[in-house]
Amino acid sequence: MPLTSLWRDATRTFATATPVDDTQVAQPIDRTAVPRHIAFIMDGNGRWARQRGQPRLFGHRAGTQNLRRVLETCGKLGVEVVTIYAFSTENWGRPQDEVTGLFQILSEAIGREAPALHERGVQIRHLGSLDGIPDRLSSRITDAVRLTAANTNLILNVAFNYGSRAEIVGAVRKLVAAGLTAEQIDEASISANLYTAGLPDPDLIVRTAGEFRLSNFLLWQAAYAEYYSTPTCWPDFDEAELERAVATFAARHRKYGGVDDQDG
Ligand code: IPE
Ligand code: IPE
Ligand code: MG
Repeated sequence: MPLTSLWRDATRTFATATPVDDTQVAQPIDRTAVPRHIAFIMDGNGRWARQRGQPRLFGHRAGTQNLRRVLETCGKLGVEVVTIYAFSTENWGRPQDEVTGLFQILSEAIGREAPALHERGVQIRHLGSLDGIPDRLSSRITDAVRLTAANTNLILNVAFNYGSRAEIVGAVRKLVAAGLTAEQIDEASISANLYTAGLPDPDLIVRTAGEFRLSNFLLWQAAYAEYYSTPTCWPDFDEAELERAVATFAARHRKYGGVDDQDG
């Protein structure tokens, strides 16, 4: 099934447990206004925990628990591709016990959520490298990707041990290793060798916790993405927050470098 026709199925899948006829499906959807691909920089877990007098890992646990409602809302809205930034290559620089704890939480979350996501027809993909990742977590990721590979309702990219600059370097190296000449290396060939090969670029990048930076996330793919930042920390980013982000996106005027009637 082509991706462009998937939104309705995703809506059905997430909106109700059983199939319903079209008149019963909530239709908030002006397809031109909903981003096909939303990427989330899930920031502020640590601050969220600190505000509650709790250790940082408490915030990471709450952050992974929040994923379910965000994905369900994306499905209802008709988003086709969701990318989440779970762990950056720079996050290795955090204290060892935070990194170990994060890996443990992510491993539990994948074990818990992958079967339910599979039932909902979500295809899980991994963006990043599994080099240096503990075996248990690494095999959970590989298993989840394999389990859900044929699903078509929604694509969930998990950017884990991901760094955008390293991704671009890796793509260029693959092209050089394949014997391409300098003239043969172009935008299409680089795109085709990124972790996101074949997927539409993100239309909307949402960052929580009030920050306004990309932190080495999807630098190439975000060339024409719209940005949205909210002061809300990730564990509190709920349905209403997501709808606000999408409504803001819908009101933006994308020009891709051109001019149009509204420019006078
Ligand atoms: C985002 O929350 C999750 C990861 C980077 C893994 P943070 O842990 O960065 O939370 P803050 O920014 O310290 O509040
Ligand atoms: C970006 O958040 C990485 C993830 C959300 C996984 P960080 O909290 O690591 O980013 P900086 O350090 O504020 O730039
Ligand atoms: Mg942070």
